[in-house]
Amino acid sequence: MDNLTKGINPFYPGQPVPVEYFTGRMKEIERITRAIGQVENGKPQAVFLTGEYGIGKSSLAGFLNFFAEKNNHLIGIHVFLGGAETLDDLAEKTVEAVLRQQIYEESRVEKIRNFLAKYIGQQSLFGVNVNFQAVKADAPNIAKGFLPFLNELLGRLKDDGVKGLMLILDEINGITRNKQFSHFVKSLVDENAVAQKPLPLLLMLCGVEERRRDMIGHHPPVERIFDIIEINPMEDAETETFFEKSFSSIGLKVEDRAMYLMRFYSAGFPKLMHIIGDKVFWENKDGVIDEKDVRAGIVEAAIDVGSKFIDQQVYKALKSNLYKSIFKKLAQSHFDLSFTKAEIEKTLDASEKKNFSNFLQRAKKLGLLVSGEEKGEYIFTSRLARLYINFAADFKWK
Ligand SMILES: Nc1ncnc2c1ncn2[C@@H]1O[C@H](COP(=O)(O)OP(=O)(O)OP(=O)(O)O)[C@@H](O)[C@H]1O
Ligand SMILES: [Mg+2]
Repeated sequence: MDNLTKGINPFYPGQPVPVEYFTGRMKEIERITRAIGQVENGKPQAVFLTGEYGIGKSSLAGFLNFFAEKNNHLIGIHVFLGGAETLDDLAEKTVEAVLRQQIYEESRVEKIRNFLAKYIGQQSLFGVNVNFQAVKADAPNIAKGFLPFLNELLGRLKDDGVKGLMLILDEINGITRNKQFSHFVKSLVDENAVAQKPLPLLLMLCGVEERRRDMIGHHPPVERIFDIIEINPMEDAETETFFEKSFSSIGLKVEDRAMYLMRFYSAGFPKLMHIIGDKVFWENKDGVIDEKDVRAGIVEAAIDVGSKFIDQQVYKALKSNLYKSIFKKLAQSHFDLSFTKAEIEKTLDASEKKNFSNFLQRAKKLGLLVSGEEKGEYIFTSRLARLYINFAADFKWK
């Protein structure tokens, strides 16, 4: 099988998964479906999708967006706020997101375009052309009248059977630094709650727990607004379904041992599942994914993860020979994220032991570890980092 006849690569490392490849998350979907149902019946809701980097927040939000239009008559607007720092930026990106949003019913698209006609540039063959200048000029007004803007949007769609909106604010790393954002979100929710006719709005924020904490730090009442939905690593069955579904979509069978290894090394992390799947896809030469394909793919994946996700600094600083063997011992020890100094020390030889305190201090300084509550307890700040260390110890430093 050469590269031309391989078919479409069903893996999407580095971007939210398209709806047709979305897998699992039934529990989370069920919980959010309740909120969606409330909004469909007219009651506003706010949820915070949280979970660590790469766990699948944006993918789940994207799937729910599709789901809520199909099943519950809500129109979703998925706003990626990367790079946004001010409320004007937020307003700008929201208008752009409304125009670019994939909406399934044509008549709705038409109405939205009429509503926002002045922000549409010259027609192009490739979807909507946003007139950025016009959007920018109006952004401050839209930011100030954000709720009326959303109300007007829904008003235009009501005839089309739309019962509510789902506003997804994603990639909030930059904007949560701005104190005004916390106040904005709280006011939006409160203003809507006391309105004579509240807008059926599902407000959904996506971010790691630290971002929610930042927001609360800026304005404590934010804590009471949201239902928190935590996304955890996938269960074994979900992971297997993912690989099974992805490979079978291009007619490939997965052998049991191959499946086991992909599951084991991705450990429930969708981000790693896609990286591994992608590498294995390119290693495979026939109609069956076997152990050999997977082993080769995992080595590639480990290198990829190491160079991309671990801060270059951590990687460079701690890769020295001096620390290699300590890393290896950590990799071989059975703990998830947290370990105690004493329990690892038992596995170290004399020279490793001598360097261990130093190693821990440096790893802390570099942000790889934090101290835990127990005496001598250390915790990996990210599971991806912990996993990379396993990868690296197994495959590169042997
Ligand atoms: N339910 C799922 N089914 C299949 N693939 C998924 C699923 N959830 C996430 N992924 C994949 O995992 C990777 C990370 O997902 P996503 O970008 O949604 O995570 P995130 O939590 O939003 O990450 P970040 O914190 O970086 O924004 C992507 O490659 C995505 O395609
Ligand atoms: Mg995301």
